[in-house]
Amino acid sequence: MGLFSKFFAQTRKPEGFLGKLMVGGMNGGHAKLADWGMSHLAVINPARIADLGCGGGRNAGELLKRYPRAKLSALDYSEISVEKTKDTNKAFIEAGRCAVVQGDVAALPFEDAAFDLATAFETVYFWQGLEKCFSEVFRVLNGGGTFLICNESDGVDEASLKYERMIDGMKCHTIERLAAALKAAGFSEVIADHHPSKPWITVLAKKAVDTAEE
Ligand SMILES: C[S@@+](CC[C@H](N)C(=O)[O-])C[C@H]1O[C@@H](n2cnc3c(N)ncnc32)[C@H](O)[C@@H]1O
Repeated sequence: MGLFSKFFAQTRKPEGFLGKLMVGGMNGGHAKLADWGMSHLAVINPARIADLGCGGGRNAGELLKRYPRAKLSALDYSEISVEKTKDTNKAFIEAGRCAVVQGDVAALPFEDAAFDLATAFETVYFWQGLEKCFSEVFRVLNGGGTFLICNESDGVDEASLKYERMIDGMKCHTIERLAAALKAAGFSEVIADHHPSKPWITVLAKKAVDTAEE
């Protein structure tokens, strides 16, 4: 594998020196996309948020700024991402608003119904067993909770498919594929948006309120 491919393979699970370079770059490189994704979170006011596959932690911090009464758990299976997220969000951690956890989305280390909002920016490409991972997100969301997925690939754009061929274990999903996996995981309502001029997509999935619990 050439150095270029080795560097981009770090997006899947940052490790070592190249991984450290990659997480720093992701914080700046994904900011515009993530802000566009967050602009779809219209009228919600979550108290408990999980940012899954948090990378360098910039988006976790941005969510905490947007929702000043919220607490957030950031999760990633890469030790380097976890360390960088802690560094990026030092002030929020000291204020007791942010916790950073190392773990895999396929077996989330959180209790049932622990969150009102879960987010996944530029990460579901790497989640092995999409339905299983989405059912974990469904489990940790409260009834009425929202799951936001934001990707810079719509699953058919040539530039991203080039990365898919280069990065082992990466899959650029279409909106249809994501919606089907979300429905299979139990989400009742799935709404998607495609950027007007870029291959960016946002998918919002809702967990129905369990009326039996009310
Ligand atoms: C391309 S980065 C995106 C990071 C960040 N969300 C952003 O937008 O900048 C993908 C991140 O997802 C993490 N990741 C991938 N699969 C994961 C899994 N199964 N469980 C936890 N984290 C995962 C990787 O370690 C990496 O930090």
